[in-house]
Amino acid sequence: MSAATDHFWMPFTANRQFKANPRLLERAEGMYYTDVEGRTVLDGTAGLWCCNAGHGRPEITEAVSRQLSQMDYAPSFQMGHPLAFELAERLAQIGPSGLNRVFFTNSGSESVDTALKLALAYQKAIGQGSRTRLIGREMGYHGVGFGGISVGGMINNRRAFGPLLPGVDHLSHTLDIERNAFTKGLPEQGAEKADELERLVTLHGAETIAAVIVEPMSGSAGVIIPPKGYLQRLREITRKHGILLIFDEVITGFGRVGEAFASQRWGVTPDILTCAKGLTNGTLPMGAVLVSDSIHQAFMTGPESAIEFFHGYTYSGHPVACAAALATLDIYAREDLLHKAIELEAYWQSALDLLKDLPSVVDIRTVGLVAGIQLAPDAQGPKAYRVFTQCFADGLLVRASGDVIALSPPLIISKEQIDQIMSLLAKAIRSLG
Ligand SMILES: Cc1ncc(COP(=O)(O)O)c(C=O)c1O
Repeated sequence: MSAATDHFWMPFTANRQFKANPRLLERAEGMYYTDVEGRTVLDGTAGLWCCNAGHGRPEITEAVSRQLSQMDYAPSFQMGHPLAFELAERLAQIGPSGLNRVFFTNSGSESVDTALKLALAYQKAIGQGSRTRLIGREMGYHGVGFGGISVGGMINNRRAFGPLLPGVDHLSHTLDIERNAFTKGLPEQGAEKADELERLVTLHGAETIAAVIVEPMSGSAGVIIPPKGYLQRLREITRKHGILLIFDEVITGFGRVGEAFASQRWGVTPDILTCAKGLTNGTLPMGAVLVSDSIHQAFMTGPESAIEFFHGYTYSGHPVACAAALATLDIYAREDLLHKAIELEAYWQSALDLLKDLPSVVDIRTVGLVAGIQLAPDAQGPKAYRVFTQCFADGLLVRASGDVIALSPPLIISKEQIDQIMSLLAKAIRSLG
């Protein structure tokens, strides 16, 4: 008989290393996890950027349980149920203005693939069928579907999987530690990186490009915050050339940077916006794609009996996930959580100063309730992983990605808990020696 941890092939995990010394969580409430040994762990990452309202919210538990006993499942193909329509309306209300049509998925990866397919099908529908090229960005993370890894720019997520989608190109990333180190908020330098899109238009021809997809703020590649004016510039260039702009807001959605979506915080409205994670407070898998009225309108032609978009998932608009999402949106509204990150931003930023002069820290990037602490590279392997394991041993969950420690706590965090995160993290970074 094999050991108890043998059978679960864990995602994005060094399985053998983990199983030699597992970290197992058992309970969660508010800002804290409890592990199987009964130790309390402060959640510095909102699970995986998703539990924005904190853990164990009884309102969500009750809504899910009520919905499960009332109706466990209903198809969304040629059928419907009221909660999906209600949730779509609520998302249109809180989303950027003009993005009023909502397609449901079950994850960020599915939201991205849906958005890319929508972009291609839209261009075809308006007679621009030669626009089949998709443009992503270096260091971008758009989930793990073939579409997402094709436009994504993290090499380890791409290199084992063959040629990927044809006709994809990438903009340069905007990380520029030399010019922008230790910037609080949006960095001053780098808006001109958006002009590379003009270069790609010259290279490939605008008539071949369907869409550009970027995270307004990259999370997974280590918190890369858009330079001032960069997103505006991308918007101008895409509009000028008839290219759709897709914002992947799977991480930035639902209050992470101080508005419902980063698009609203930074005043740039894309044509398509993807989200997931915080939509259900991480309780159940669900994603959504918000689409402009004009894109939607372009599909609504032809005979009324014709299916307009040949795409969808068995669990699109799952009633139990809808119930969880509606209860989540109620909490966000009641507690004004979507604006909390702006309220706490100044405190968060000055608390981060504690880490600034520590050995190994080469940059701190922060906006809203997010921070990326970049450590100097080390021949013995990423220091960030060692910091992560030390923090966990000391009762703090942080996220290690390459040489970066990412912080993204639930939006219900108190100032005392912010201080606690910084002092535990400082201790772990100091222990690197
Ligand atoms: C920007 C972005 N897009 C897509 C995804 C993929 O989401 P999922 O893991 O739910 O498929 C993520 C996940 O972290 C993400 O950060």
